[in-house]
Amino acid sequence: MTLMQNAITAAPLLSVQGLTKRYGARIGCAGVGFDLYPGEVLGIVGESGSGKSTLLSCLAGHQRPDEGRILFDGADVLAFSEAERRRLLRGDWAYVHQNPRDGLRMGVSAGGNVGERLMAVGARNYAAIRESATDWLGRVEIAADRIDDRPSAFSGGMQQRLQIARNLVTGPRLVFMDEPTGGLDVSVQARLLDLLRGLVRDLGLSVVIVTHDLAVVRLLADRLMVMKSGRVVECGLTDQVLDDPQHAYTQLLVSSVLQV
Ligand SMILES: Nc1ncnc2c1ncn2[C@@H]1O[C@H](COP(=O)(O)OP(=O)(O)OP(=O)(O)O)[C@@H](O)[C@H]1O
Ligand SMILES: [Mg+2]
Repeated sequence: MTLMQNAITAAPLLSVQGLTKRYGARIGCAGVGFDLYPGEVLGIVGESGSGKSTLLSCLAGHQRPDEGRILFDGADVLAFSEAERRRLLRGDWAYVHQNPRDGLRMGVSAGGNVGERLMAVGARNYAAIRESATDWLGRVEIAADRIDDRPSAFSGGMQQRLQIARNLVTGPRLVFMDEPTGGLDVSVQARLLDLLRGLVRDLGLSVVIVTHDLAVVRLLADRLMVMKSGRVVECGLTDQVLDDPQHAYTQLLVSSVLQV
């Protein structure tokens, strides 16, 4: 289904209104609102300190916003109990951290890292769990003979791919990513981006992805939201925003990248 058809026929998977988070007198993000439809990738860009991580962590329930509403599949997430929120984070939601160390258990084998997520949603059959883990390692291009190695023995790019496998193995309905290609060599970034694009397309993932890299959003995001000083200054279809930016700040952002 195309994006437009989705927007017309489906209800939003995630609906955000007036989301505001302050750190004392400082604004983290303010008045942020958007709808994310099933199968859609929303990119969030903006300079350092513009509120991208604050927004993502509020959306994913890592911190509580001061104001606003977050509806997931129509349910008021901010009214969820701690147990309900945890259940979401274990299965329906995935969160890919910029630093794989924040999203992996470094002392547990690669297979264990993937299998653990399955067990958290109730899988108990060891052979089936190991088979799924092997399958997912393959999908993220990690050789099957590394299944018993710990992530600490992996390169940065491999760790990031393992984190992605761990997150996607439960078939999440919504994936949050904070700078998933940050902190990696350029050639490793390109390969990871390629892999991510394949997974997004093949699995029809619904994603909110934060990045300061316009090449990442150009490849992955259907829609783009530009943030500055905690506020959304522009939002639209990615190609439209990048090719014909309306806001002066977006124009600056786009042109500064082109000059590199
Ligand atoms: N824990 C915190 N305590 C106080 N202020 C914070 C905290 N986290 C973020 N801020 C402030 O909130 C604003 C938004 O920060 P945030 O980390 O969300 O930006 P960002 O867009 O993710 O930046 P970056 O691209 O550098 O990761 C900044 O002014 C920042 O200083
Ligand atoms: Mg950040």
